[in-house]
Amino acid sequence: MSDIEKWLTAVGLAQLAQKFARAQIDLDSLRLLNDRDLRELRIPIGPRRKLVAAIAAMEQPGDAKAQRSPPERRQVTILFCDMVGSTEYAARLDPEDFSDLTQSYLTRCGGLARSHGGFVANYAGDALQVLFGYPIAEENDGERALDLAFELLLAVPRIEVPDQTPLNIRIGIASGLVVMGDVEGAPPGLPTVAFGPVPNLAQRLQVLAPPQTILVDQSTYASARRAYEFQDLGATVVKGFAEPIHIWRASKALPSSDRFSKARITRLIGRRSEIEQVLALWRLITKQGVARWLLICGEPGIGKSRLLFEVAKRIQARKTLIAQCSAAYSNSALFPFLQLLRQESGITNALPPADAARRLETALVTSGVPLSVSFPIFARLLFLEQMDYPPSELTSSEQQSIVSQVFVDWLRHMTLQGPLLLAIEDAQWIDPSSSNLLDGLFKARDFPALVLITSRNDVVRFGDRRPAIDCLKLGRLSREETGALIESATQGIKLASAVTQSLLRKAEGVPLYVEELARSAAELTAFGAPANASDTPIEVPNNLQSALLARLDKLGQGKTIAQVAAVIGREFDMRMLSRVANVPVDALKLQLERLTEVGLISPQPFADWPRYAFTHVLLQEAACGALLREKRRLLHARVAQTIEETEPSTAIEHPEVLAQHLYEAGQFERAADQWLHAGLKLGQTWAKVEAANMFAKGLACLQKLPPSSDRDRRELRLELERGDVLYATYGYVTREGSAAYRNVMRLSEALGDAEAAIRALDGLFGTAFNSARFNDAEWASNQLVDIGRNRQNIRALVLGMQFLGMCAFSRGRFDEARPYLEQALAYQAAAEEIGSDFPSMSMIYLSWTLQLLGEGKEALALFQQAEAQARQQTDYRLAACLGNGCILMALRHDATMLEPMINELIPLARKNGFQLWLNMATFFQGWMLVVTRQDASGLDQMRHICDNMGEQEIDKTCYLGVLAETYLRLGRIAEASDTVQRALALAKKTGERYYFAELLRLRDELKLRDTS
Ligand SMILES: Nc1ncnc2c1ncn2[C@@H]1O[C@H](COP(=O)(O)OP(=O)(O)O)[C@@H](O)[C@H]1O
Ligand SMILES: [Mg+2]
Repeated sequence: MSDIEKWLTAVGLAQLAQKFARAQIDLDSLRLLNDRDLRELRIPIGPRRKLVAAIAAMEQPGDAKAQRSPPERRQVTILFCDMVGSTEYAARLDPEDFSDLTQSYLTRCGGLARSHGGFVANYAGDALQVLFGYPIAEENDGERALDLAFELLLAVPRIEVPDQTPLNIRIGIASGLVVMGDVEGAPPGLPTVAFGPVPNLAQRLQVLAPPQTILVDQSTYASARRAYEFQDLGATVVKGFAEPIHIWRASKALPSSDRFSKARITRLIGRRSEIEQVLALWRLITKQGVARWLLICGEPGIGKSRLLFEVAKRIQARKTLIAQCSAAYSNSALFPFLQLLRQESGITNALPPADAARRLETALVTSGVPLSVSFPIFARLLFLEQMDYPPSELTSSEQQSIVSQVFVDWLRHMTLQGPLLLAIEDAQWIDPSSSNLLDGLFKARDFPALVLITSRNDVVRFGDRRPAIDCLKLGRLSREETGALIESATQGIKLASAVTQSLLRKAEGVPLYVEELARSAAELTAFGAPANASDTPIEVPNNLQSALLARLDKLGQGKTIAQVAAVIGREFDMRMLSRVANVPVDALKLQLERLTEVGLISPQPFADWPRYAFTHVLLQEAACGALLREKRRLLHARVAQTIEETEPSTAIEHPEVLAQHLYEAGQFERAADQWLHAGLKLGQTWAKVEAANMFAKGLACLQKLPPSSDRDRRELRLELERGDVLYATYGYVTREGSAAYRNVMRLSEALGDAEAAIRALDGLFGTAFNSARFNDAEWASNQLVDIGRNRQNIRALVLGMQFLGMCAFSRGRFDEARPYLEQALAYQAAAEEIGSDFPSMSMIYLSWTLQLLGEGKEALALFQQAEAQARQQTDYRLAACLGNGCILMALRHDATMLEPMINELIPLARKNGFQLWLNMATFFQGWMLVVTRQDASGLDQMRHICDNMGEQEIDKTCYLGVLAETYLRLGRIAEASDTVQRALALAKKTGERYYFAELLRLRDELKLRDTS
């Protein structure tokens, strides 16, 4: 007997042997046969169905070789599933109908089983036995068996029955040790059987189960209880078992913080080596107790989040934290980390404020920072009302570093119980403050944590640094892998091979596309095409959007719900959805369950209201993108309105979300106002970069509007704020900052708004002067003086004169500088009204001027007066005064007075993050080291600052001169000459001349040394 004859005999179709022999079908080609082929062979429907099922049953992942497996002992989970009342069906239905029904039942169940990675061991009548843990053992066999069981409970009653009575099933599951082997005498590839008490137990449990329920034994319960909820049915005597058996009834899946565990998930395909690579890092961490970082990058839908999920599942960290970045919140300072904190400490808006405050305290005490310091800062970040602590008086950059430190401590504390897995998801959308926080975390490597960053980009930035982090780049799936994924996604529905080919081509190996296109093709195959149309090949949708639409179309109202939800965002809560869609919550529940079931959305943890998220951003975008533009616009308007009317907390905490909806709704003015609001709110914190971005978004809204003075007024306001925030962040020269100010000038002229013009000119002067563009700086100064004279505006006049004095000094025109500065200082009594840097800058520059005019004593006295005033004012004023004082001491060659100033300035500047003044202090500290201690390392320090001043050019000839002189002092003539040349060239370029005489002297002195 040939192999194929044996096989046919075993499946009870020996009569087909001749036919098969004529068509030259062997065991290998058998696997490739489909229904169409069998029809061509003119095999009648009954045997044809049996054949299809038997062929499907032989296609197991592990038995491609179709070799008989030697018996082996294995730990497995076995699921038994049986149809309820099949004898009644058999009696009631026409025999052919009944056979059809049984076949479609077995095909459906078998397909689902395989899609969960189960091994369909044998059919006995209409009972199904599925093994997990064979031929490949996975750690979550119990959970997967339950996943399948619940899916069967849903799927089987949907199978069409001729007389419309839904099919019901019973399920029993048991786990334990078995011996696996093929039945003696059976041909290879035929039913592999598990021997031992476990299969019997599973079957017994199935018999005991009431219709549509799942009963499991103790070991299955133990392995799946983290994912499912069970009801304890106690110990029962079971036929065939000497000891009573402890039985559990599975009632439902537990909520999980992970979208994958509740979404309809396909079997993992490939990625073994990637997973192994991450696991190796994890082992290192547990061994060495230090932090390790890894970037996982790749295009959207490639499987970054899935890899993360698979790793998390395998490592059993005490704690897995996921900080999820989001496109909608990419300018919301610290968004992912604050969400994490909320989630972990259970702080929700629904909580009474006092309770929320207690929870926050519990989280914050894990840090060494005293509560009185950290609490008010965090309470404000989380918008908690609180009376217990006075508001923080720290500067915004001090607050930023406190926040950073607290987060690091909080995470470190979690590692006391074991290593931590921290994921930063979708880092391409991280906000600048969180990115800075990562930098802090990166530096604190002293605790066992694996930090995985997922991103579409293959580089990450922490603030303005690019850390050295290994990158794991995910590539597309191979053809074979794609094939396997298609099979898993179609849940056993067999696709025609032309369809599969087309799918392989269109999905291009991106798992998300594979899944979606395959699901859509499977639905079309199973339900879409008319019964007799299996000859007309179904069309595989061309892209995600059409695939998704094809699937949504089947959901009736569910489609509308999904699209409304997509307009709200990637994440949405039920209450908001109910209001925007105008559908009562009860009716929504059902729809949302359907959408969850088809894998489009998944429930989210920790919220005041049930929350859901689209399982992938691209799915959200596709659902939203399929709406007609006008419809979408109206929906955004409704969302905005709903937020304003019923979600005041969102409007307050995240005005940027409201702004974005208004923008999409085409309400550009209101959107611009919200962006302004959002930016102003952030501008008060350290999050200046985020604030500047928000102002820029507001400006972009205005671009959409026709010109009007109303529009100009809004633009003016946004530009001014943007300029100021940029100036505050970068201190000096940014092209963007000056562009903003120039635009303000244009607008303020058109609107006749003098105050705005003054603010802009102040800013413009600052940026120009700091980059030593004296012509521009003088232009701004003169404009100010003009406004001052023409409009009797003291503020403009005095600032203008102060600025003209500063320019004249820098150009080396001391005689001109002196009267400007003295006239400005005549207005000291109006200092409050004038603001800006007056009068301290006038005093400093006058003291420098006097020094260089040879009036050293007066110069020093004036400086000390300025310093005394600054001590009464803000840290910034004091830092600026001490910093500029350094230059005075350099001009005076007075290292003794310099020392205490530097010792005070360095910590002051560091604490406040005043980079400019920190640079200055560091430079002169280097100088002091050389001059007073003959410590040559000071030179490197000086040089480093000179080489890294960025766009700041002001005072640079002075720094270089001091550096050259120091080289000379140590006899390093060549370096001294180079530096002097550099300084002279710069003086020529910029026109900065106040240190010019000294430079010339140095140059000639060096020349003399050279010749001598
Ligand atoms: N190796 C894989 N095997 C099976 N399914 C996968 C695999 N990689 C990704 N998927 C599926 O593809 C979809 C998109 O993957 P996801 O991890 O969300 O992509 P990303 O995070 O890169 O955008 C998910 O439904 C996921 O389950
Ligand atoms: Mg992802």
